[in-house]
Order: sequence, then structure tokens, then C-alpha cells
Amino acid sequence: MTDLQTDEPRVLAKTDEVPDAYVRPFYLEDLKRRVAVVRVGGALHAFDDLCTCGGTPCSLASGLLDGTTLMCQCHGSRWDVVTGAVERGPATGPLRKYEATEADGKIRATVSAT
Ligand code: FES
Repeated sequence: MTDLQTDEPRVLAKTDEVPDAYVRPFYLEDLKRRVAVVRVGGALHAFDDLCTCGGTPCSLASGLLDGTTLMCQCHGSRWDVVTGAVERGPATGPLRKYEATEADGKIRATVSAT
């Protein structure tokens, strides 16, 4: 059992660990899952790293980022990292996004446990 409050912002990285146009995964030991963080045009976006395609459990952080579009390398699904909306299948589900903030040289995300 952990005393970490999952609905509170948690530190994922130092600011310089997520440069612009770069997707970085972070493993959350207590939740047993990865969250990806991307910085596009200076804005941070955080979302579950697991592709929503439902097939192979592929990491979105190893996909290709083109502007605000992230493409999964496994079957080519695409999402807008700003809105989380699907741009192209086979995935039909949006990215599961989390609030990401940056202050005091640290990147934080509020990740729900469920
Ligand atoms: S696993 Fe990502 S598109 Fe299928």
C-alpha cells in the first residue's frame, strides 16, 4: 500500500529532461503504468503511454511526432497530442490525457489511479 495521493500532482522530471518536440515516457511504480510527456511549442502534454489501438501494447513514446500529431509505430494510428483526439485509426479511442504543469524547474502531472 502506498501513501501517495494519486489525484495530486506528482513530479515526473526536471524541466530540461523533456525538450521541445520530444516524447518521454515515465514509469509510475505505484500505478504500474507509464505516462508519456511531450512538449510542443513550449506547452506540455501528458497522456497514458500505452496505445489505445487495443492490439499490441505499444509505447506511444517510441512513436513519431510531427507537429502536434503523434503516430504509433505499430499500426500507424495518429492522435493530436493537444486535444487527444484520434486523427487516424485503427485506434478509435482518444489519448487518456492528464494535466501537466511546470514550475520550479520540475514537470508535474496529475495522474488518476483508475
Ligand atoms: S498498437 Fe498502436 S496503432 Fe496499434
